[in-house]
Amino acid sequence: MLRKLEDTLEDILRERMMQRAELHDAMKYTLMAGGKRLRPMLYLNHISEEMTPAFEDFRFAAAIEMIHTYSLIHDDLPAMDNDDMRRGIPSNHRVHGEAMAILAGDAFLSEAFTTVLYIIRDNLQFLPMAILLAEAAGMQGMVYGQSLDMLFEKEDVPYESVEQMVRFKTGKMIALPLEAAAMRLGYSGFRRRKIRQMGSLLGEIFQLKDDILDISGDEDELGKHIGSDALEGKRTIPAIYGLERAESIYAEKCSKFRAYAREAELSTPLLQFYEMILQRRK
Ligand code: IPE
Ligand code: IPE
Ligand code: MG
Ligand code: MG
Ligand code: MG
Repeated sequence: MLRKLEDTLEDILRERMMQRAELHDAMKYTLMAGGKRLRPMLYLNHISEEMTPAFEDFRFAAAIEMIHTYSLIHDDLPAMDNDDMRRGIPSNHRVHGEAMAILAGDAFLSEAFTTVLYIIRDNLQFLPMAILLAEAAGMQGMVYGQSLDMLFEKEDVPYESVEQMVRFKTGKMIALPLEAAAMRLGYSGFRRRKIRQMGSLLGEIFQLKDDILDISGDEDELGKHIGSDALEGKRTIPAIYGLERAESIYAEKCSKFRAYAREAELSTPLLQFYEMILQRRK
């Protein structure tokens, strides 16, 4: 399934290539550099509980990954986190220049919604899912969280504000694939609620691990430089409480997540997928 997602991402870029290849090349550079594909795989793995993912599911999953990739390219820019490495290679602007990196991000956002609109043209069931995606990405979602992340570099904010920021910058785009899958499968009531709880907690867990790994991770495994949060003055949970306390908060959040996952009665492969995410080192 991962292979088919990778093929879909490549197909989309190839289908839209124009005469001058510079923009295409800048986009392909980060998109195909081997991210974990966590967000699209959350969607595909969840719907696989009850159906075989169709062509439009791979396209929807690819749209999620394109938005995520744009957020990473922009996140690394000198005006934001000023990071030189991403997905094991120099970050986009270091190779393609700032202008092309900004444009690659812009294009990904537009092409993600072009992709989704083509799906909707043929299958209206995807319309509410597309609205969720738009909201998760935008000024009530990831971009809002990124704005808080930047503001907090210069503000002495309490723990609660940091948690709130994480819920937006990372939580929204991680909860989205689960919510969209629940919608695609027609879940309502208890199952929908469980999936929603899992999604928002997974977002917190994922960012907390990212922040911990920024201190204690392995650069080669991670594919990005460590120590960059401290350098930029980022407000993170380990920055506020120290690594040890952050690790114990992490363990608590994971126990809570496992309890949700049990209640949701997921299949063994899906539980194993989640366990891999909780225990990730990269
Ligand atoms: C990095 O996301 C940004 C965060 C929200 C922590 P990932 O860790 O999913 O990055 P890739 O897609 O695997 O490169
Ligand atoms: C980024 O968080 C969240 C995004 C929405 C891109 P980070 O800034 O901590 O992500 P990394 O560590 O650069 O991947
Ligand atoms: Mg950032
Ligand atoms: Mg960053
Ligand atoms: Mg980080």
